[in-house]
Amino acid sequence: MRTQVGIVGAGPAGLLLSHLLHLQGIESMVLEIRSREYVEGRIRAGVLEQGTVDLLNETGLGERMRREGLSHEGINIRFAGHTHRIDFVDLTGKAVTVYGQHEVVKDLIAARLKAGAQLHFEVDQVGVSDLDTPAPTIRFLDRDGAEHALVCDVIAGCDGFHGVCRPAIPAGRLTMYEREYPLAWLGILAESHPISHELIYVYHERGFALFSMRSPRITRLYLQCAPDEDLALWPDDRIWDELQRRLAGDEETPILQEGPILQKGVTTMRSFVAEPMQFGRLFLAGDAAHIVPPTGAKGLNLAVTDVSVLAQALAAFYASGSFEELDRYSATCLRRVWKAERFSAWMTSTLHRFPGHTPFEQRVQLAELDYLMSSHAAQKSLAENYVGLPLR
Ligand code: APR
Ligand code: PHB
Repeated sequence: MRTQVGIVGAGPAGLLLSHLLHLQGIESMVLEIRSREYVEGRIRAGVLEQGTVDLLNETGLGERMRREGLSHEGINIRFAGHTHRIDFVDLTGKAVTVYGQHEVVKDLIAARLKAGAQLHFEVDQVGVSDLDTPAPTIRFLDRDGAEHALVCDVIAGCDGFHGVCRPAIPAGRLTMYEREYPLAWLGILAESHPISHELIYVYHERGFALFSMRSPRITRLYLQCAPDEDLALWPDDRIWDELQRRLAGDEETPILQEGPILQKGVTTMRSFVAEPMQFGRLFLAGDAAHIVPPTGAKGLNLAVTDVSVLAQALAAFYASGSFEELDRYSATCLRRVWKAERFSAWMTSTLHRFPGHTPFEQRVQLAELDYLMSSHAAQKSLAENYVGLPLR
């Protein structure tokens, strides 16, 4: 079997790359270990930067997003009993769009299948080899158990943090940078009318909380918890009770509407970067190369930027035969990746209660938030990072 670009993983990175390559007339094959239903039902974050929205629109993927996505012109930050708004449009001229990542994935899968893409779900025993030769190869078993070797010009490792591509790079060729946080988020999706038009990030003595949404009827909520939190100890009543406490604001703040909980899960927090994002003819993109903690919602947006840079570099490669642009891929992406790492780590450190923090450190957090709300410059800095920094 042969293809031009072999893509491991059908998350947003792999699927969008395959779509962008198709628009450039480049053939690809996508291999995914999970089922289509699993990938389409996996609930993740849901904030799209303006640049992500523009790219989806420009490449014909925006039809449902334009109908169902919610444009948010700012966010709220609540601490010490008060709510403060940061107005993105006023500060940057841009907004963000709330549209679930799994909705983006559904739109991508529909578009790829409509175009007759080679998209294989439920493959098994995926392995990559010959990465520093002109014929890098992906071996896998298809869903019927038949063995295949897919010979490619280039492989895109879009298989997330736990995938097989990054570990296939020989020891010593990558430098890994990592920070683990002593925190996690307990997230729920609930049938409940949003109490606010925009997100509310809460710094609270009982721990961080986040109010978000997916539609005018569906609310998405998160509570800071321990990384090893046992969900069995969190019946619905306890979750609502804790959310009510942490989200309680001033008298004007509406009380959270409780409703059936549709989905529950714990998200751990990590900052991670592997450098460079290339070895020979293997290119890593999205979570395979870097992870951000979810505070700030940068993960999907970084994956989208990576694959748009990679698709352009591959188009240049096929047009000219030159590796020049492909060889710049990693450095081009990493400059922006590191700024998003900085921003996500800052949002995380500022808004959570860290076990072991002294009263001094807690006072500094409050001062940081107070400074943010009293400084136009600080608000502008948050806003321009939140709506998305330019690539270059
Ligand atoms: N072979 C094939 N597919 C694999 C393998 C493997 N060995 N290992 C993992 N995968 C698949 C996973 O099942 C998943 O569908 O690769 C896909 C990777 O997708 P994501 O984890 O969604 O990563 P990515 O496409 O880079 O998207 C980044 O996801 O985690 C969020 O916050 C992150 O929003 C960001 C986005
Ligand atoms: C979400 O809606 O899931 C969400 C929003 C903002 C974040 C993280 C997650 O920072």
